Amino acid sequence: DNDVRINPSILAADFVNMQADLARIATADFVHVDVMDNHFVPNLTFGPQMVGRIQDTSPIPLDVHLMIDEPDRWAPEYAELGAESVTFHLEAATDPISLARRLRQIGARAGVAVKPGTPVEGLFDSLDEFDQILVMTVEPGFGGQSFMPETMPKLRMLADEARRRGSAVWLQVDGGIGESTIAQAAEAGADTFVAGSAVFGATDPQAAITALRTAAGR
Ligand code: DX5
Ligand code: ZN
Repeated sequence: DNDVRINPSILAADFVNMQADLARIATADFVHVDVMDNHFVPNLTFGPQMVGRIQDTSPIPLDVHLMIDEPDRWAPEYAELGAESVTFHLEAATDPISLARRLRQIGARAGVAVKPGTPVEGLFDSLDEFDQILVMTVEPGFGGQSFMPETMPKLRMLADEARRRGSAVWLQVDGGIGESTIAQAAEAGADTFVAGSAVFGATDPQAAITALRTAAGR
């Protein structure tokens, strides 16, 4: 839609000073929480116990990004612990539509994510089943990678399709988003922006969020 959402990724925060780091991003729209299982991606972060503690202590709603195998089995738990948004990967899901319906039933926003090489046309007929579509702008797994502009045509197609169908789905980008790349993604149709290193790598994370909001300029 026409609002801009900036969701800092705590993958770039200090894991043993999480509460202090959350206080440094008070004007963020969501906290982006990257769950990795060392199977779907070659990296490991944390699971429901840690996310539950973040949920208990964060003043900002959670935007959970599950980079895990078998989301059909594990994703509902994150909705149950109170995350406002839960996004699973299309490549890993057995039945994406049923899973999205379960997440909504529990009370979360349901998101589906696609890796840079995954086509999005298959989602066109089910846009209304999702509250958010995440177009990965790097290969998932690590922070600090370079933005892949070749993913922008997928975003454009989704934005056109959402407009055509009058869908309220949010279009999210994640990976390599910073002051110099956010405008391209916004222009291609993204409205929800994840930024890890660009926010937590800044001396003033709050100012970085404001700068990103301005640079998104939509
Ligand atoms: C990457 C994660 C991202 C990551 C982004 O697999 O999904 O959320 O934290 O980090 P930056 O913004 O540094 O590319
Ligand atoms: Zn992420």
